[in-house]
Amino acid sequence: MTTPILSVKDVHKSYGRGQNRFDALKGVSLDIAQGESLAIVGKSGSGKSTLMHVLALLDAASSGSVELDGVDTATLQGRTLNRTRNKTFGFVFQQFFLTGNQTVLENVILPLKIAGIGRAERKRRGLAALEQLDLGDKAKNRAVNLSGGQKQRTVIARALVNNPQIIFADEPTGNLDSATGAVVEDILFTLNRENGITLIVVTHDDELASRCDRRILIRDGEIVEDSAAVAA
Ligand SMILES: Nc1ncnc2c1ncn2[C@@H]1O[C@H](COP(=O)(O)OP(=O)(O)OP(=O)(O)O)[C@@H](O)[C@H]1O
Ligand SMILES: [Mg+2]
Repeated sequence: MTTPILSVKDVHKSYGRGQNRFDALKGVSLDIAQGESLAIVGKSGSGKSTLMHVLALLDAASSGSVELDGVDTATLQGRTLNRTRNKTFGFVFQQFFLTGNQTVLENVILPLKIAGIGRAERKRRGLAALEQLDLGDKAKNRAVNLSGGQKQRTVIARALVNNPQIIFADEPTGNLDSATGAVVEDILFTLNRENGITLIVVTHDDELASRCDRRILIRDGEIVEDSAAVAA
């Protein structure tokens, strides 16, 4: 078997201490194959975003391990960790807002700036990503003036500009009308299918979840269903 792109073993995540301690993840283990599309579903407060943050190395587990392509991510720290995250992941999170007073293009090329890519190359790749999302004509607009769906597509352009191995999406269609949501969804699955990008998506939308290769259900910080386990 090939090495999973992400391998999680017995991850616990607690917030707070003493009497205020809350165990948000209680021993989660999970292997995610390269190129897979995975839906993480479950009730509000069940631990979906917490798991996503641990998978995306935005937050450290309290115990347990997360391997990225066979590398124990506990060995990655500081700059190395930031660079790995920036190079390997794209984020479609509603809380990762666009900077409203910057242009759409400036927002999209931010990951390239962090990666130290030169100005001309940044512009070229940023415009190419915007074209791909049908936003080429909005490159010079201020992000604040975009519609909701255009903002979400801009976030996707920013997520893919660095040619990531994995895209993490937390409720990518949550605030969109169904038609715009369908467009955003189609873009994500096209990237998954045609570019082989692993797609990990948290959603309350059953239809979106059913389009994924695999669906895991989280309840009170534990995986209680895994469609891959059923199929195996
Ligand atoms: N920083 C924090 N400090 C304390 N508790 C937290 C913190 N972050 C999350 N929690 C708690 O951990 C639990 C899981 O939160 P999480 O955000 O992962 O839920 P979720 O499944 O994503 O829910 P939703 O569908 O509402 O987004 C919740 O009970 C939440 O209150
Ligand atoms: Mg959440």
